[in-house]
This record gives sequence, C-alpha cells and structure tokens, in this order.
Amino acid sequence: MLGGGQLGKYALAAANAMGYRTVVVDPDPQAPAAVVANDHAIAPYDDSDALDRLAAACSVVTTEFENAPAAALERLARSVRVAPGASSVAVAQDRIVEKTFLVDHGIDVGEFVPIPGSGAHSSLLDTARRMANGGAVVKTARLGYDGRGQRRVSSEAELEAALVEFAGVDVIVEALLDLRVEVSVLVARSSEGRSVRWPVTENEHVDGVLDLSVVPARVGPALAAEAERIAVSVADALDYVGVLAVELFVVGDERPGADGAPRLLVNEIAPRPHNSGHWTLDASVTSQFEQQIRAVCGVGLGSTAMTAPAAAMVNLLGDLWFLPAADDPNGEGSLGDPVEPDWAAVLADPDATLHLYGKAEPRPGR
Ligand SMILES: Nc1ncnc2c1ncn2[C@@H]1O[C@H](COP(=O)(O)OP(=O)(O)O)[C@@H](O)[C@H]1O
Ligand SMILES: [Mg+2]
Repeated sequence: MLGGGQLGKYALAAANAMGYRTVVVDPDPQAPAAVVANDHAIAPYDDSDALDRLAAACSVVTTEFENAPAAALERLARSVRVAPGASSVAVAQDRIVEKTFLVDHGIDVGEFVPIPGSGAHSSLLDTARRMANGGAVVKTARLGYDGRGQRRVSSEAELEAALVEFAGVDVIVEALLDLRVEVSVLVARSSEGRSVRWPVTENEHVDGVLDLSVVPARVGPALAAEAERIAVSVADALDYVGVLAVELFVVGDERPGADGAPRLLVNEIAPRPHNSGHWTLDASVTSQFEQQIRAVCGVGLGSTAMTAPAAAMVNLLGDLWFLPAADDPNGEGSLGDPVEPDWAAVLADPDATLHLYGKAEPRPGR
C-alpha cells in the first residue's frame, strides 16, 4: 500500500482479515495504516530503493491517495501488478486533466476554463472574467482537498486577487453552480471489466468538507440510475481496476430551451475508497475497503447490497476535541488542550458505530 493514511488503514485491516500479509510505504512514522500493516517502510513515495523492495516483496501494489506519484506507480508496474493503474491516478491528480478527460468521453461537467500557471491566453482570461461576474470558484489544479486550494469569487477584481494568490500554479476556474444536492457513486471494477456499485449516496458539505452522508440518496430512482450509469461509464473510460468514487452535482437544467429539471454533472473523481463510502463498513455486505482488496487482488467482487434499509454517516472533525467548556461557552480563551469527546454517549445507541482514524493529534478542521 502506497500511502499510510486512514483509507489505507481500513483497506489493510480488510486485507488482514482475508489473510493477506501487507506492507505500507509512508514517510510518516505515525502513519495510521502502520498499526495494521505487517511492515512499514518509512520512506518517501519516490524513493526508488523502497519502491524496488516493495515490488520484490509484494504480488500486488495499490494506493490510497491520488497524489501517489504516477512515476512511482509506473516504476512498480514494470515488475508487479499495480491497481489502479498510474494513468487512472494521473487523471484524478489534476483537475484540468480530469475535467478534460470527462468532456472527451462525453460526460457532462460544469462550465470551466483552465488557466495555466505559465500564463493564460487572453481569450481564456476573458472567459474567466465573464464567469467570475456570475460567481465562480477558482481551484488549484493539483493537491487540493477538503475545499483547500479554492477561492470563491464574484467579481473580476476578486478573480484577479485569486489568480495573484495562486500565481505560478495551474488553476481551473469553474462556474459557481446552484447545487440542489450532491451525490457520490462508489464503483468497484475488476481487471476483467466487470463493475458493481453501491447505492447512490447523498452528501452534505460544510466549508468544503464532507459533513453528512445519507444512503440511499433521496433523489428518485431515475436520477439515481443515471448517476450509476455515469459512474460506471467513467470507470470504463479509465479502464479502472479497484474502487473509484465519482462525485456528482445535481443542478437544475438551465440550458437554453430546458425546463429546469434536475440534471447531473460530474464534479470530481477519486481513484480510491472515499469518505462518502465509509457507511459500507457497517451497512453493506462488502465494505468499500474489502472490495478494494478483492478488486486489486483479482479475486471475485463482493455483494454491494445494504444490510440495513438506510444508513447515515456523520464526519467527526478535530473541532470536537476543542468544544468550549460549560463555564466558558463563548470559548474566550485559546483553543486549550484537547479533551476526548464522550464516545460512550455515541455508543449508547446500539445502532451507532464509531470509527476513529487514529491520527496522532486532533486538529480543528481536520
Ligand atoms: N463549481 C462549484 N459550484 C458549487 N459548489 C462547488 C463547486 N465546486 C466545489 N463546490 C463545493 O465545494 C466542495 C468541495 O469541492 P471539490 O471540487 O469537491 O474539492 P475537494 O477536492 O476539496 O473535495 C464540493 O463538494 C461542493 O460542495
Ligand atoms: Mg470533492
């Protein structure tokens, strides 16, 4: 496993339950996945020695984050099975490459314009200015997550300020869409090209961070079927192997002559299990993490049927450890020392389960 974050931790726990022996590569000695791996190579992802040792020791290599260097995956793929493939990961690493790939495969996305860090053609800037006046989001093409590396702008002046702030890196300017609801589809695809997907999940974000997921999404059967069809077509277009998350926006159709009926646009894809699929740990026959292991190891894909009529996942952020004390409700002081939340109160509900990532320390907003 290239990457030792929480997603790697759950995937390696699933691998461990199936009897596989695992090694994780992560430069962080405290990497959450290290506690469940048989071995932890503390090394940068582009360390050729570590990669060669990994390739020699393993029969399959996978990754848990989209910023695994595509070059590292390519190097590994010369001598060992790697899934998902470097080219799939490379598409998801860059918002400009990603949106262009989707458009090239006939998949609808919102209006966008790429602004290269090396300087944009004036016609691109004119389009970006027109979009800014109607409301736009400026996003760095690479390395953004949880709403980081994004600025909302509503005028040409704000656009210019954002472009100055992100000077030198490629950015994408997207029209700010009037979202009715956000959904995601988790697809698992085998190397033979067979895919299965879980029921569509409905997602609510706060400040760009996932806050709540509800499944099945309350969007009606026609839209849900269309979201699944789109997600599978993305996986097929990538010739993807493993678990892929496809985030979609539901917007009203405002195109000329349209009637405002709900319409789906792909927002972004993640070449890995995804926060919005965490509910599968507790309410699906096969979790997204077990499925990732099954897909990349080339054994059969498991059932994606739900084991409950519905499920909800609430994302807990580090802020919970810093709630103001009862005698200081306005939180006058500084953040203070973290206080462990009252987990027993959560688990008093027999239908609730608790998953803590095991990060070294709680941090607000994370
Ligand atoms: N063009 C847009 N119009 C409206 N809301 C958006 C747009 N782009 C992003 N958002 C909001 O910000 C959230 C995070 O943006 P996203 O592009 O998914 O980046 P991240 O990689 O941080 O998840 C989205 O889930 C959505 O709520
Ligand atoms: Mg997102």
